[in-house]
Amino acid sequence: MRCHSTDKGRLLQVALSLLLGFFGLSVSPPAVADETTPLRLCADPDNLPFSSENAATPGFYIELGGEIARALGRPFQPVWVPTYYTKRQIRLKMLAGQCDGFVGVPAEASFMGPRLVFSKPIVHLGYALVAAPTMKVNGIGDLRGRRVAVQFSTPPQDILASDNDVRTVTVLSPEEGMQDLADGKADAAFIWGPSAAWVNHNAMHDAYRVVPVEGDHMQWSAAIAFPRDRTDLRDQVDQAVDRLGDSVNALAVKYGFPTDAPSRGELSPAHPGKGEAQTTGAPPPSPADIQAGRKLFNETCSHCHGPDALQGEQRRNLRLLRQRYGNDMSRMFMTTVTHGRVSKGMPNWSGVLTQDEFSKILAFLTSIQEPGS
Ligand code: HEC
Repeated sequence: MRCHSTDKGRLLQVALSLLLGFFGLSVSPPAVADETTPLRLCADPDNLPFSSENAATPGFYIELGGEIARALGRPFQPVWVPTYYTKRQIRLKMLAGQCDGFVGVPAEASFMGPRLVFSKPIVHLGYALVAAPTMKVNGIGDLRGRRVAVQFSTPPQDILASDNDVRTVTVLSPEEGMQDLADGKADAAFIWGPSAAWVNHNAMHDAYRVVPVEGDHMQWSAAIAFPRDRTDLRDQVDQAVDRLGDSVNALAVKYGFPTDAPSRGELSPAHPGKGEAQTTGAPPPSPADIQAGRKLFNETCSHCHGPDALQGEQRRNLRLLRQRYGNDMSRMFMTTVTHGRVSKGMPNWSGVLTQDEFSKILAFLTSIQEPGS
């Protein structure tokens, strides 16, 4: 899974530090920070309820980062990086010394191997069932016969894919899932809980109930990651978080994280290894999925739609799907590829490609959309 450029990057870094060491300089951050050195945490500028560069609602991670810095007697400085590709950003930003820690990373040793050390978990997060309060949603059984919005390439999508009685509506983000509920396009949603709760509270007057779901790959813990040679800082942060105690919970409540105990229902997904969470925002498709989608696209679709979807004819330009269809993009994509527009020259691909392959192609296309006007 890991690519070789990482090792090359590491070698380069080692070579660089040897070179700088020769001139008496050092590339590693000072081992003991003095009180004027800001605590710099990398975080996403636009990922509420977790983090935002908007000072009016900075988000859970940013407020927590501020409190930790205050406890350490240091100024706090967020370093904004989009977390769409968390692992890549950790490598490019944190391991290159641009921030001291990366907040909101899955607290799992397997996440990026031995290059990182983690704080204690700072919050528990997971997928949730969302529906009107009048509808009983305690487990998958309650979804039978319903239209259910799921984010593509996520564990909920995997689980529901094998249930013939549930009609899934694929969406690209929890926000889109909530919109489908509001528009009556889905009866329930099985999506990323904290983001669903945030939208529910801030944009939908708490019209829906958000019930966290227990099970494999459903709930996990987020932590702050540090480079492996910064266990000193990690230990200081752990102590600070311990001292903060209840104010951490108060922040979780402030940002509307689902507080109901996870429902057990009859959810016991058995899809080991699938759907590893990537970030604590809506888990996006992994770079590996996007790569796989690109390969599939170039093998199957490119002779009509252009290699990497680059081609001049507007009608077939798949880089304009977002501009053309906005939030309906993923639905339109799924409908078009599974039905075709045979009379117009677009083949029907159902039976040729699997749902998983469609999802990967969509992940690739999503990653190359032209910005909207
Ligand atoms: C034989 C040529 C051909 C191949 C191969 C082909 N397409 Fe198409 N596709 C078309 C044409 C032509 C259209 C435009 C149809 C129309 O005018 O509505 C189209 C339209 C589409 C649209 C809708 C675009 C829009 O803006 O409405 C999507 C999505 C799409 N194709 C996806 C794919 C994918 C994914 C593949 C590969 C699995 C693929 N196509 C392979 C010919 C092709």
